[in-house]
Amino acid sequence: MYRTHTCGELRVGNLHQTVCLSGWVQRVRRLGAMTFVDIRDRYGMTQLVAGEQSPGEVKQAIDRLGREHVIQARGTVVERANKNPKIATGEIEIMVEELRVLSASEVPPFTIEEQTDGGDEIRMKYRYLDLRRAVVRENLELRHRMARAVRNYLSDLSFIEVETPVLIKSTPEGARDFIVPSRMNPGQFYALPQSPQTFKQLLMVSGFDRYFQIVKCFRDEDLRADRQPEFTQIDCEMSFVEQEDVLEVFEGMTRHLFREIRGVETGAFPRLTWDEAMSRYGCDKPDLRFGMEITDLTGIARGKGFAAFDEAGYVGAIRVPGCAGYTRKQLDELTDFVKQPRVGAKGLVHVRCHDDGSLRSPVDKFYPGEDLKGWAVACEAMPGDLLLLLAGEREKTLPRLCELRLEMGNRLGVRDKNVFRPLWVTDFPLLEWDEETRRFYAMHHPFTSPKPEDIDKMTSDPGSARANAYDLVINGVEIGGGSIRIHDAALQSKMFDCLGFTREEAEAQFGFLLGAFKYGAPPHGGIAFGFDRLVSLFAGLDSIRDVIAFPKNNSGRDVMIDSPSVVSAAQLDELRINVNPQETRE
Ligand code: AMO
Repeated sequence: MYRTHTCGELRVGNLHQTVCLSGWVQRVRRLGAMTFVDIRDRYGMTQLVAGEQSPGEVKQAIDRLGREHVIQARGTVVERANKNPKIATGEIEIMVEELRVLSASEVPPFTIEEQTDGGDEIRMKYRYLDLRRAVVRENLELRHRMARAVRNYLSDLSFIEVETPVLIKSTPEGARDFIVPSRMNPGQFYALPQSPQTFKQLLMVSGFDRYFQIVKCFRDEDLRADRQPEFTQIDCEMSFVEQEDVLEVFEGMTRHLFREIRGVETGAFPRLTWDEAMSRYGCDKPDLRFGMEITDLTGIARGKGFAAFDEAGYVGAIRVPGCAGYTRKQLDELTDFVKQPRVGAKGLVHVRCHDDGSLRSPVDKFYPGEDLKGWAVACEAMPGDLLLLLAGEREKTLPRLCELRLEMGNRLGVRDKNVFRPLWVTDFPLLEWDEETRRFYAMHHPFTSPKPEDIDKMTSDPGSARANAYDLVINGVEIGGGSIRIHDAALQSKMFDCLGFTREEAEAQFGFLLGAFKYGAPPHGGIAFGFDRLVSLFAGLDSIRDVIAFPKNNSGRDVMIDSPSVVSAAQLDELRINVNPQETRE
């Protein structure tokens, strides 16, 4: 028997018992004749001790121990003279009577402790060692608890988990596909699913009624802190539902998770239409942990001779509480912030609202007395506040104000990771115009239903048609998105028309779905949550990498297994793929 207990289990209640533990050596400390060894496993850490009176073999074995050796120790549980309140087993130690090295370890490339000396790169290369660290392991344990809670919750509501294929068909919509060559069909390719969207809709046609799947999805896009090329969705679909039904079930699930996993009551989720979210927060994923909403000053800020505003289509402001005393240097920093290419503003105008009621701004010669006061009134400014204004094209200026608002939120420390402010954003536009290709794209995906009252606009004014689509946003992160689907072949064809597909193209790409809709498709809709994002939010982490066991780096590489990699010429020949050797990278 390798162990009677785990390394996190023993307490004073076990005193005088003979026990056997197995685990990894975290640390060896020698104090005079005494040697202390911290032995670690998934469950915790226990102190082993050997001294003068210990058997000779134990003393010899302990002398040879190094970090990360896997050992088995048998001994008696004794009370510690120096208790350690920081660890659960801190009141006891094991007086070792037998010690066996099960597997030796080379010196690890970084210390496997909470505070490690290993940088990001080295920890990713040796991810299996990084995963031994409690902080990293706890994230995966949280992930498991959340997946289990989701499965139980949805199963109790009659949802069934169905697996859908991973080798599917490439479609031109959405992000870029990862493609997989087919040996048996030379010159043809599978694609890895960006989501199981069409399959879950087919399952509704099959009558499954309530489906979910915790499923890997693949998208070949540029990576960011909240994006990985392979990531996991909680993918869901329901039949005989309207938007309200879907929101109710998945608000219920999200609140259940907050309650069960974080012990937090969030209350009912507020809702904002996409239009409201854009005009009040400058983006479709507002962070509601703080105010500083945007005020439209276009009407009162233009026409006073200040060229930057007069020439702008839109002037907007945020009111930053208590920052009237910002120094010149702080304001210059903010100007640099909005001017960086990522944000893209030309400049920043500020107004200080002094405690004596006076208002001061570098542009006050254009806006004497009452004019500036008009801005302050519109922004509901109080003495001590600072107004920050940006101007330009509305579509470009709102996202810049959003960035500025988030930056001020960070500076004022009002984006507390332990506060959760979920909301639904509804009524998304159905279509998005792309200037480069000069055509409309589906904002969510081509199967999303327009609002019934906007169907006519699909031909008369496509850009203004709204969709039955919704996002779940928490703390400024898009956690999930979904829609009510088109379940009518004629309306689906109309949608493909809007997207500029010819009948033949639509048939070639999505003929299977259009075909299925001819055999009795129930009204249906659903949603998918980004599971990695949800877990990282619950863990209070900024990057989803930390909640993925074996993530890719920012260049899409797995530095541990060193992939992607070149494959042999023979493999490529078999697949009938010609790769110019000059173009492959080692
Ligand atoms: P959507 O494309 O909005 O919808 O994706 C759903 C959710 O998945 C997460 N997500 C990602 N997470 C990590 N890395 C990525 N690269 C990544 N891309 C997306 C986000 C997002 O909200 N089939 C539809 C859902 C539906 O209509 O039911 C879909 O995939 O949290």
